[in-house]
Amino acid sequence: MTIRYLVRPGSALKGRFPVPGDKSISHRSVILGALAEGVTEISGLLEGDDVLATIAAFRAMGVVIAGPDHGHLRIEGVGLRGLKAPQTPLDCGNSGTAMRLMAGVLAGQTFASTLVGDASLHKRPMGRVLQPLTAMGAEIHAQDGKAPLQIQGKPLTGIHYDMPVASAQVKSAVLLAGLYAQGETCVTEPAPTRDHSERMLNGFGYMVSRQGSSACLQGGGRLSGQSMQVPGDISSAAFFLLGATIAPGSDLLLEGVGINPTRTGIIEILTRMGARIDLTALREIGGEPVADIRVRYAPLQGIDVPPHLVPLAIDEFPAFFVAAACAKTPSTLTGAEELRVKESDRITVMAEGLRALGVGVEERPDGAVITPAPIKGGQVDSHGDHRIAMAFAMAGLVASGSIEILDCANVATSFPSFPALAQAAGLSLEQLSA
Ligand code: S3P
Repeated sequence: MTIRYLVRPGSALKGRFPVPGDKSISHRSVILGALAEGVTEISGLLEGDDVLATIAAFRAMGVVIAGPDHGHLRIEGVGLRGLKAPQTPLDCGNSGTAMRLMAGVLAGQTFASTLVGDASLHKRPMGRVLQPLTAMGAEIHAQDGKAPLQIQGKPLTGIHYDMPVASAQVKSAVLLAGLYAQGETCVTEPAPTRDHSERMLNGFGYMVSRQGSSACLQGGGRLSGQSMQVPGDISSAAFFLLGATIAPGSDLLLEGVGINPTRTGIIEILTRMGARIDLTALREIGGEPVADIRVRYAPLQGIDVPPHLVPLAIDEFPAFFVAAACAKTPSTLTGAEELRVKESDRITVMAEGLRALGVGVEERPDGAVITPAPIKGGQVDSHGDHRIAMAFAMAGLVASGSIEILDCANVATSFPSFPALAQAAGLSLEQLSA
């Protein structure tokens, strides 16, 4: 089924609501819960298609999982050595996290498995996980470093891996494989990336030591089942931070949002541009810092995004492009070539979409220069990229005419309740299916 959004201009965003569970943490809670000994009870799980794919994959390997039911999931962990050979390929759907993290888990099993996904996932680079996993002794076949991945489980040996790209998925894949490896596995990152795997492994009773930019663990330990709550996803909150910032008269309170410092780059970038964002009720949930975030309309200035903030806001650049289009002065993004290998080529797709709405964007190999202009109505193609669809939906708040956004079904991968929450907050969004 194809879904289009039709967004009519001219409203403000108001109200207070919790944002749905964090996608990265939800995936990891399923993976670690399945590999743990004993029962894991999760609340606040994101019931998006990506996480459902991870749940289905572990069920196919014999793990008994009840739910999800209103964000609650109960996993009967089978222990690190308890997975069974799947009878069919494991389908990761649209999810790079599912595929790369599961490649790490499957590399050290005693059985063979195959990981597949949708057309977008089959275009994304998997060499970045195949290379370190192969160095650990894994046997993985892929054509041109792309899925499908055929994995023949093998005994693994720990490595010290210096990651060439700042990628939490690669770091996590290597650490998960390290659970099965002989000796110590260490991953060193060129810049800080989200550290949910390290925090959660510790939370499940598996020691991960961190020294500077390295995370290390010893193979052969055990994970113990946990009760845990998943905080709200700052990457989903980002669309509301954008919408409320650009639409005059807006005032929103987003409740229970994760503010792990490896994820808050978008707050820093928008604040440097002039946004009015206040964090209140700071607390800790499931080993992660959380806050309620109040955001009100504010006029924005352009920014040269500091390169060190790029990995800390890696999923938020579709929202940033729209914010930059609404600022008073131009913005420059550099050091963001990773955006070209996300669910779509986010530099090209955002540039094309903004140009269709009258905004000047000069593409660079590793970023773009965005020259603000009044946003017109028009048609944009999200190319099946959930975050691009949601960013352009928010652009509709300040456009001079209606914006039609094509190919929006994948919003359900990360934020199934987005249309309903956006409508309730005041966005005039109509969902059309064919
Ligand atoms: C994720 C890491 C990021 C991010 C993705 C989720 C994760 O990817 O873009 O949406 O859960 O580890 P990279 O690690 O490839 O940058």
